[in-house]
Amino acid sequence: MRRKLVAGNWKMHGGIAQNRELLAAIVAGTKTVQDADFAVCVPYPYLFQAQSLLRDTSIQWGAQNVSQHEKGAYTGEVSTAMLLDFGCRYAIIGHSERRALYGENDDTVALKFAAALQAGLTPILCLGETLDQREANVTEQVVARQLDAVIESVGIAALSRAVLAYEPVWAIGTGRTATPGQAQEVHAFLRGRIAAHDAGVAAPVKILYGGSVKADNAAELFAMPDIDGGLVGGASLVADEFIAICRAAGAGSR
Ligand code: 13P
Repeated sequence: MRRKLVAGNWKMHGGIAQNRELLAAIVAGTKTVQDADFAVCVPYPYLFQAQSLLRDTSIQWGAQNVSQHEKGAYTGEVSTAMLLDFGCRYAIIGHSERRALYGENDDTVALKFAAALQAGLTPILCLGETLDQREANVTEQVVARQLDAVIESVGIAALSRAVLAYEPVWAIGTGRTATPGQAQEVHAFLRGRIAAHDAGVAAPVKILYGGSVKADNAAELFAMPDIDGGLVGGASLVADEFIAICRAAGAGSR
């Protein structure tokens, strides 16, 4: 049985006052949901606030990116040690927006993944195909390439300390969700690919789905055998939506 995880990815949204309200509502709204884990991945400047407001709650927090370098002359970058200073548990690695807009390739992603793991953070490794790639029927090749780059770099056993997130690019922020069947197919493929290396790593590894997860589609997605929760963008900024998604995960935990 894999315990479900719902993680909010706030992206570049938030503000001190609105975060306070949102986090208080999430803490209150998830208090009675016990059979799943919840987290928020906030912009760097709000990590201190997340730590202050969440430290005595069951909600964990993390960042949306991290440098692959330990320290040094890397203007604008943030290290794994800095994330640990603010109590982060998670770091999202290789989000498609970072791959598409900030030039992160499979090699950079593998380095960031390794750095996060080495520091004791739990990387949430994002994988997913574009619409063109889906229409060209190369979804499996694309996610396999993205996954293999990390496995080749850190070894298969490292995945047992990580979380994967399948995020089809065409479903992100578009309101167009993969059907539960479409998502399940890719999740099963990813788990199978890991199992080909090591079945003992594949069985417990959490694979989240991300891409327009909302209160009204979460339950059917989470009912799929290989979907272990969600990485939620837009809906994680709306307390009632996010709480409902968290409740769907709690109810659906196997
Ligand atoms: P949306 O939920 O807004 O589609 O974003 C998904 C995502 O990118 C989470 O990382």
